[in-house]
Amino acid sequence: MSKSGPSSTDASRTHATTSRGAFSSSLGVLAATLGSAVGLGNIWKFPSLTGANGGAGFLLIYLLSTLFIGLPLMVAEIAIGRQARANPISALRQLQPRGAPWWLIGVAGMAAAFLIMAFYSEVVAWVFAYVAKALSGNLLSSDPVQTQASFDALVRDPVQALLWQWVVLAFIGGILLLGVTRGIEAATKRLMPLLFLLLVLLGGYSLTLPGAGQALSFLFAPEWHKITPAVVLTAMGLAFFKLSIGMGTMMTYGSYFTAEQNIPATATRVMLADLSVSLLAGMAIFPAVFSFGFQPSAGPSLVFITIPAVFAQMPGGSVLLAAFFLLTAIAATGAMLSLMEVPVVILHERWGLSRPRATLLTLLILGLLGAGCALSQSTLAAFQPGGRTLFDWADYLSSNLLLPAGGIAIALFVGWAWGERAFAAQLSNHGQLGNQGLARVVSLLLRWVTPVLILLVMLAGLGVFSGT
Ligand code: PHE
Repeated sequence: MSKSGPSSTDASRTHATTSRGAFSSSLGVLAATLGSAVGLGNIWKFPSLTGANGGAGFLLIYLLSTLFIGLPLMVAEIAIGRQARANPISALRQLQPRGAPWWLIGVAGMAAAFLIMAFYSEVVAWVFAYVAKALSGNLLSSDPVQTQASFDALVRDPVQALLWQWVVLAFIGGILLLGVTRGIEAATKRLMPLLFLLLVLLGGYSLTLPGAGQALSFLFAPEWHKITPAVVLTAMGLAFFKLSIGMGTMMTYGSYFTAEQNIPATATRVMLADLSVSLLAGMAIFPAVFSFGFQPSAGPSLVFITIPAVFAQMPGGSVLLAAFFLLTAIAATGAMLSLMEVPVVILHERWGLSRPRATLLTLLILGLLGAGCALSQSTLAAFQPGGRTLFDWADYLSSNLLLPAGGIAIALFVGWAWGERAFAAQLSNHGQLGNQGLARVVSLLLRWVTPVLILLVMLAGLGVFSGT
């Protein structure tokens, strides 16, 4: 009991070791939070999962999960972070009833961050490699066999897979070592709109392709029979992954929020903008899938094989292709920074490591874990315990198990342990905003609905009810 310690000691420990960073303006808060949400999830995961799971039905369940599970949890996490102004472990220790073990959510979150980064960094590695290859001009082709072969050549080469991952890790580590929330803020603020613009262009162009009609009906006309419990779990897991929730990222960013920021309004804006980017990516990719004879179920390679084919049709295609992957790399960088911030700030504030040391230690651990994922299509391809490569395990376990489980715990914490008054005070900025009614509703959701829904979806998706 006494091990988890009284909260006052904990708060002073946090504040003694650091003068904490913070986002500088309302726009900065929005840019950084959106920068965390928007990433490979939109451009790589969303299209490939939608493609592999039958299109519109998957999309619908994803939307429902986002609204009823994702959004309330995002609000909850940000509120916790801003109230405590500390890393997730310290934050929960500070707010939890004396002696309760809610801080373990922070520990699990740190584990989830590492697991996600292990495979995420490899996908960013492919994106970086594609920037370089696009500039050299030999990626463009409207022949699916050709674009698939280029992708395979990259991921099946252990040297390239590892080298590009190290380039990514060094790059991200470099930014974090500079220690600049300002740098992140400034870069994302300027470059995210460009990505948006390019996606609008690309989507617009794609809709003129002959397969556009088929793509739209694939994306918007549900075939209910394709929705199995496992598909529902995947869609919900994607909602967690997309909004960066269930593992402490939003708690951490919440701790940098300005006191004036309207938390529910910010979360809603981020959710909507994030959703538009995903839909645009879908509009850019699926017409090409049907026009050029790709398989919508191509899986992780989908973006990498379809997008070069679309650009192959356009004048200046290789430059645009490089720009597309460069902007994707930037979006992924924002997400990756927010992932890495979780262990870094925990190691910094709780273990007393300096930020540079905490960053280096994080990178070191990641280099080891990441190699397992980087090599999973080459050297380690035959190593598939339980029928999945290490890459697929990291992806599967994080989205379908750790994030939802974290979500249940966070919902229960806010609904039952933290107390509605404190929660409502955060949502309404201590009564300055008229969010009290909303706080009531979200609180009830978190207490009774969200955790039960998540649990049911998890159990069904894992086959507990069907006995498989
Ligand atoms: N939301 C990010 C994306 O879609 C991924 C992410 C997950 C980032 C969890 C932080 C925490 O790419």
